[in-house]
Amino acid sequence: MSQPRVLLVTSEAVPLVKTGGLADVIGALGASLSSLNVDVTILMPGYPAALEQARNLKKISDLPGLPGGDAELMQGVMPDTGVKVLLVRSPLFSSRTANPYVDKNGKELDDNAVAFASLSHAAVRVCAGRTDYPVPHVVHANDWHAGLIAALMKVQGVTGVGTALTIHNLAFQGNFPLEHATEIGIPSDMITAEGMEFWGKMSYLKAGIAWSDRITTVSKTYAEEILGELGYGMQDILNRRKDVLSAIPNGVDLDTWNPSSDALIKRNFSLDNMSGKTVCKRELQRLFNLPLQPFTPVLALGSRITHQKMADVVLAALPQLLQEHPHFQVVIHGCGEPQYEEQFNQLAKDYPERVGVHIGYDEQRAHALHAGADILLHPTRFEPFGLTPIYSMLYGTIPVASCVGGLCDTVVDAGQGDDMVEGATGVLFKGEEASHLSDAVGRALALYARPTVWQTMQRNAMSCDFSWTSPAMAYIQLYASIAPVNARPFFLELLKELMKPKASKSMVTPSPLKMTA
Ligand code: ADP
Ligand code: GLC
Repeated sequence: MSQPRVLLVTSEAVPLVKTGGLADVIGALGASLSSLNVDVTILMPGYPAALEQARNLKKISDLPGLPGGDAELMQGVMPDTGVKVLLVRSPLFSSRTANPYVDKNGKELDDNAVAFASLSHAAVRVCAGRTDYPVPHVVHANDWHAGLIAALMKVQGVTGVGTALTIHNLAFQGNFPLEHATEIGIPSDMITAEGMEFWGKMSYLKAGIAWSDRITTVSKTYAEEILGELGYGMQDILNRRKDVLSAIPNGVDLDTWNPSSDALIKRNFSLDNMSGKTVCKRELQRLFNLPLQPFTPVLALGSRITHQKMADVVLAALPQLLQEHPHFQVVIHGCGEPQYEEQFNQLAKDYPERVGVHIGYDEQRAHALHAGADILLHPTRFEPFGLTPIYSMLYGTIPVASCVGGLCDTVVDAGQGDDMVEGATGVLFKGEEASHLSDAVGRALALYARPTVWQTMQRNAMSCDFSWTSPAMAYIQLYASIAPVNARPFFLELLKELMKPKASKSMVTPSPLKMTA
């Protein structure tokens, strides 16, 4: 039986390029599908960082006449997992740096419309058999960057390849002026309200929603939210395509985020022996120039510092919280919108003994933060899935998070009363006012003051199963439903094999932590 072939199209993937959770997901999903015996290839732009880090790179095809000019298709493997990767080498991508979408002033790059159209065109060439790379059975587009694929396949009459689109964040839509349409190969009859027209522009994400065989998003609650109040103007088309919309919640890369083996943290620990967490806490306080106080709770914020992540609300809440509760410290690690970054720096100056801020983002500090903190602050106005609170839970750091999107599905709130809710892993709150966040922090600090309750929450959080195996199998099931008829048996056979009791037992690792429940 042949292996099922899947082309995973994305703009970012760890460890090549990352601006957020999408990169984590693609890197880990690719590795997980590959370990389950899917012949998976990641296709992404040939940014300089990607060309530098991918291994065994060689040119396999020319890609003449893509929008914006000629390009080349480079084949290699991911440096960490060995998963196959195709990179589109083009001048359109050759000067893009850490954040590949914006210039050094944070402004969207002018050629984004053409650049990401060329990514989709490259994917369609592979699907059409117009390169020297095997044609996939399914092409799986992720977010707006790859949104044009299904539309271009329709225009160009490419059949025999199933199309799936995953929405990781509906707020980013890839909406561009209509005058680019001819240049990117989109005919005017596709630019309608039922198609990809969106408020007088054309939307790459809407194109993916309109024409993909199947659409998924990354949590059950978000799948419901985007049909209504969090639809960002796409409610109508999403409701029209509701029958092909489903949720496949993400997993977490347990090789990277595992306190018992993490090479980036000061001391490893597990539920059996939490003493390493104390060492990690001291290290975190040291890294952020805070007094080394083992019994002072450390609250940490480790996300993009943006309006979405309620940076404004955190800034409004913290001064009063610091006055009201004289015994906690705060560490902030992240970057984002400059006005918030400045205000956080100012807060650190105002409270040097209590607030430590590092503007920027690096993996080592992110791991130190999840390992060393007691409480993770994760307020957010919307959250399709939310990897960050899960990372922290795996390290026994209890999240205080907004009750939106994926967070409602992954964090179990401790409840308001004296008796902690069974299985609680965090504190969830509703609302976007400073007082809503402050009340939730107050609740978390009260729980922290009850060591037995706190340890139970840590145990619950660290015991959760967030492995990629089930999500990857859900994707295989979805691929089976859209693969061309002659390839469907490859996916179904594989699923049958994976579901055999013996196979699933050895493959589903309930938790990376060796512990007694
Ligand atoms: P989102 O992708 O919306 O930020 P997630 O919580 O799902 O939310 O994923 C965030 C990922 O990005 C995590 O791996 C986190 O460590 C990382 N991250 C957080 N802040 C930054 C930042 N400023 N720059 C790059 N990556 C970041
Ligand atoms: C997006 C979402 C985030 C999700 C990630 C991976 O960045 O904002 O919630 O976890 O994609 O799917």
